[in-house]
Amino acid sequence: MGIFDRFTGKQEQTQARAVPRHIAVIMDGNGRWAKKRGLPRKAGHKVGAETFRTIATYCKDIGVQYFTVYAFSTENWKRPQDEVDALMNLFRTYLREAAETMVERGVAVRVLGDLSVLPPDLLRQIDEVHALADTLGEQAATASLCINYGGRDEIKNAVRALARQVAEGTLRPEDITEDTIGAQLYTAHMPDPDLIIRPSGEIRTSNFLLWQSAYAEYYFTDVLWPDFKPEHMDAAIEDFNRRSRRFGGV
Ligand code: FPP
Repeated sequence: MGIFDRFTGKQEQTQARAVPRHIAVIMDGNGRWAKKRGLPRKAGHKVGAETFRTIATYCKDIGVQYFTVYAFSTENWKRPQDEVDALMNLFRTYLREAAETMVERGVAVRVLGDLSVLPPDLLRQIDEVHALADTLGEQAATASLCINYGGRDEIKNAVRALARQVAEGTLRPEDITEDTIGAQLYTAHMPDPDLIIRPSGEIRTSNFLLWQSAYAEYYFTDVLWPDFKPEHMDAAIEDFNRRSRRFGGV
């Protein structure tokens, strides 16, 4: 785990705090934020998208290498059509522009999930966002936006891929390990999340990063996602620093 002092910007200070290498967020509370102001729900998602840019960039600045957010779940298609359309339009209009400004700050934006069902024009935008991310070197932080993501769906797809290899005779069942399963997930090239934050007062995981969260620390706060500021991230990291992570040991 990286040690970074956010006040001096130097590594390995005597009073340094551990900054999680990978932070994930369930961006919840956009609808309630809008309702409190008499605005349509999509207004909450718009401010929530801006919060994503601010917090992802802040995380990079304090030394977090991976920042992953839940933007649209495999279950969110059940929402009213106008809300689904508003979210897809937000991905269309905002993602590319946000990615450009984030890349300038050293944050590579990537989209994770089952993208096969997304509209072709959005897929093209996502390709462009990934091409931008590829222009950054290894020092870049990664901010991942999970779209049409479901933890069970992801595990099901991984099982199918491995089953196919077994059927083709290229993999023996006894060679299936936690690593071979992890390598089939959307998060294959990143470490598991150290800290998962859920704002807005809900206390559940909602099918987010089911496999990857085995040893994650959870942090819940009543703050609604559009109101989430760098100081709230600081509070979550301070809380994380008070936890004793034993990974099943003593
Ligand atoms: C959950 O809050 C939030 C979502 C289902 C959507 C989150 C998506 C964004 C913030 C947009 C990100 C887009 C970009 C381009 C970065 P909710 O609507 O369920 O809130 P509620 O529980 O208060 O109703």
